[in-house]
Amino acid sequence: MADFSLPKDSYFLGFDSSTQSLKATVLDSNLNILTTELVQFDTDLPHYKTKDGVYRDHSVNGRIVSPTLMWVEALDLVLNKLANSNLDIGKIAAVSGSGQQHGSVYWKKGSSSILSTLDPKKALVDQFNDAFSVNESPVWMDSSTTAQCRELEKAVGGALELSQLTGSRGYERFTGPQIKKIFETHPEAYNNTERISLVSSFMASLLIGEYACIDESDGAGMNLMDLKKRAWSTILLEATAPGLEGKLGKIAPAHAVAGNIAPYFVDRFRFNKNCLVIQWSGDNPNSVAGLTLSTPGDLAISLGTSDTVIGITDDPQPRLEGHVFPNPVDTKGYMVMLCYKNGSLTREDVRNRYTESSWEKFAQQLLSTLPLNGGKLGFYYKEHEILPPLPVGFHRYVLENFNGETLEGVNEREVEKEFDGTSEVRAVIEGPFVSMRGHAERFGMPSPPKRLIATGGASVNHSILGIAACVFGCEVYTVERPDSASLGAALRAAHGWLCHNEGSFVPFKCLYEKKVENTSLKSKLVATPDTHLVPKYGLMAKKRLEIENHLVEKLGRL
Ligand code: XUL
Repeated sequence: MADFSLPKDSYFLGFDSSTQSLKATVLDSNLNILTTELVQFDTDLPHYKTKDGVYRDHSVNGRIVSPTLMWVEALDLVLNKLANSNLDIGKIAAVSGSGQQHGSVYWKKGSSSILSTLDPKKALVDQFNDAFSVNESPVWMDSSTTAQCRELEKAVGGALELSQLTGSRGYERFTGPQIKKIFETHPEAYNNTERISLVSSFMASLLIGEYACIDESDGAGMNLMDLKKRAWSTILLEATAPGLEGKLGKIAPAHAVAGNIAPYFVDRFRFNKNCLVIQWSGDNPNSVAGLTLSTPGDLAISLGTSDTVIGITDDPQPRLEGHVFPNPVDTKGYMVMLCYKNGSLTREDVRNRYTESSWEKFAQQLLSTLPLNGGKLGFYYKEHEILPPLPVGFHRYVLENFNGETLEGVNEREVEKEFDGTSEVRAVIEGPFVSMRGHAERFGMPSPPKRLIATGGASVNHSILGIAACVFGCEVYTVERPDSASLGAALRAAHGWLCHNEGSFVPFKCLYEKKVENTSLKSKLVATPDTHLVPKYGLMAKKRLEIENHLVEKLGRL
């Protein structure tokens, strides 16, 4: 692979504008982390009176928003912190960022001139007071747009059709349904809007002093973009609101240059006037970059309060139950994302009940049981589950005559009572992994994956990761990345700089391949698969998905 190097003595800045905070990560040209800064919305900007960065509007079912101006003031604050640190801001060659996905900003008519004539003597927040036609931005936690989701699905022939066209069925938090609701409930605000940005393109707009494009990866989180063409879908735009295309602007690849840093930041914070702003993207796409997932077969699992599976594929098969976005660090590929609501809390519940609240004892019991758990399958939904869409409930099955060689003659029997304690322990770990494998394969992820990177709280438990290796059939790695989204954004800033410098797209790997061993990008091998078990878990996954379907037919909503 050709050697593409970054200019010596230059820095790359990545932001992460998330629900609760704005972080900044600065990398040097060896991709080592030089410095980080953080603004917590609730505590650093208490006058907005947010809780966890948002307002929960109890008068409207499911409405959850954030004050748009707070995000502007957070940028003032984090830049002041960077300027007051030892960092030489003038050495930053490129900036990029990550925004919480789906959140949207409504620029009032006339605001483009505010953006282009910023006064470096004043803080940003004082200049954008009157810039928005909607002062409270809907965010990804909002679930108030069910009616609009169904209408967008209907416009293209159904939920599956919408997923095949855009990568996702209608989701309440997605931006298309949110825009449609604003148009329907506040037409005057909609008509007074000249531009609609995502959180990502909003922050990029502030930095370049003009409206930035929406990038392809984050754009796929709107239910409005034709995934294959990477262009707005006319039929969906028309079904959402009149004159929408003009308000959304163009779509750009995530590695493209959005513009040069605006003179405001050169004067006020001493940025170099040649500093490039690379398109911002969503937080999940940026995590793909931060975890250095880049080629088909790369898979990551985040085991946290909720569990998320993210993988890279060339051949996505969008269905009803997950999301496909363009890969932010490739021009043709895609990333697949599956979200499970029941993660750590369910694991902790079983740990508390059967292993005296101790992870150590949990690990011992896990290792004392046999792989495949004698055909026992548990479905533990403490919370309404997303994947599969099922209400709160616990379901247990035994696969009778299951030896892992064939499914012929194997019957599932529902059992009323709990399994014995050790079987419960294995079932709460094996079950979700088996489900993840089945769904990831159905979504078009290569099988087995090339490698699996595990993150999140439960990834410190290596006995759990040993099971993941056997279920998925690949090596499992862990990484020490404090914040993969802002790190990913800083890496994308460097990647965008390289592509711009070369005058054409450079594979993302070229950026870090020779630096992996001596930077914060290093990963650690923690588990390898027992290859005999892998096809057996494949059969179990098939059976598990069948049972999930029966449960959904009986209890859920597809
Ligand atoms: C993804 C989603 C969340 C937000 C969190 O679809 O809604 O992961 O991106 O910031």
